[in-house]
Amino acid sequence: MNTSLISSYLTVNNAAIFGVAALALVFIKIWSNGSVNNKKRDLSNQLVIITGSNTGIGLETAKNCVQNGAKVILACRDQKRTQNALDLINSIKPNSAEFMRLDLSDLSSVRLFVNEFKSKYNKLDILINNAGIMHIPNRVLTKDGFESQIGTNHFGHFLLTHLLMDSLKASPQFRVINLSSLAHSFGSMNFDDLHYEKRAYDRNSAYSQSKIANILFTIALQKRITQQKLNGIAVSLHPGVVRTELTRHYTGILGFMKFLISPLWYLLSKSPEQGAQTTLYCVHENFDKLVKGGYYSDCKTKKYGNKQITEENAERFWDISLKQLKL
Ligand SMILES: NC(=O)c1ccc[n+]([C@@H]2O[C@H](COP(=O)([O-])OP(=O)(O)OC[C@H]3O[C@@H](n4cnc5c(N)ncnc54)[C@H](OP(=O)(O)O)[C@@H]3O)[C@@H](O)[C@H]2O)c1
Repeated sequence: MNTSLISSYLTVNNAAIFGVAALALVFIKIWSNGSVNNKKRDLSNQLVIITGSNTGIGLETAKNCVQNGAKVILACRDQKRTQNALDLINSIKPNSAEFMRLDLSDLSSVRLFVNEFKSKYNKLDILINNAGIMHIPNRVLTKDGFESQIGTNHFGHFLLTHLLMDSLKASPQFRVINLSSLAHSFGSMNFDDLHYEKRAYDRNSAYSQSKIANILFTIALQKRITQQKLNGIAVSLHPGVVRTELTRHYTGILGFMKFLISPLWYLLSKSPEQGAQTTLYCVHENFDKLVKGGYYSDCKTKKYGNKQITEENAERFWDISLKQLKL
């Protein structure tokens, strides 16, 4: 073979390799972007509370709800951090969003929020328990003495939902949508040491435990909705791996690694809008088609990834939650 033949053979070969690699990247990106919600209903006259809606998945969810006619309460802890979101949403439709202060890591703030809400509105159609914190580096306690991740992600939302039940019951048909995570599959719940008093604190395990809590809470809540013959539904979901501010606690070496792998991270993750699709599916899907107490991911029901997710444990955890919240 002469040299020009070899070089043209190599050029064709390289082009083929490049083409296959580019195609593979495109397919991986399409796959990681996840499913798109194709359900849509008119949300006029629907009142929606979304916790943690100043950014990330919550903000995208709020935008869509307003675009479809809903009034949305941005239940967020910081008015300044919420102002841009509020302006953006109200520019889509004037007076369609309202800020009400809610700090889920402080039970007195949860109570104040509910009092303010009830003084203005007499029903609630959709409660989206979206706010969350992840991988807090050290064992920090909330104002009420809970480990911060389970305190914010679960106990704050449990009390919020409990106190809003009257408002939800006043709606002709209500939905409670709880943002959990696939991280529920990678850890366990220690029912006797929820706050890491007896064991060493681990940031990953504490996050997973709080996300198991979201699912157990959903199952037990649905049981009560059904027992009381209420026209409501509770679901939990994993939104996917989404590029949001959730990793804000990755500082130092973790922050550097996050920077190093950012192209790979982009390839394998969803935008906030894509990350909101499963929540929106649960908002828009026909009420009777949603699985009561179900767990969703990519706009479909999914099996739980943890053997601790059982009805028995959901009941046990419900009782523990009532006790710890002194309800
Ligand atoms: N992103 C992902 O890959 C992913 C994967 C699985 C599950 N999730 C879940 O999806 C949900 C939304 O997360 P995200 O990715 O959109 O994260 P994000 O961009 O960090 O948004 C989290 C929201 O929660 C709020 N929040 C945090 N602590 C709060 C508190 N004490 N009281 C009230 N609000 C509080 C934040 O408010 P500030 O802005 O004021 O801090 C923010 O609005 C979370 O429950 C998360 O666990 C996310």
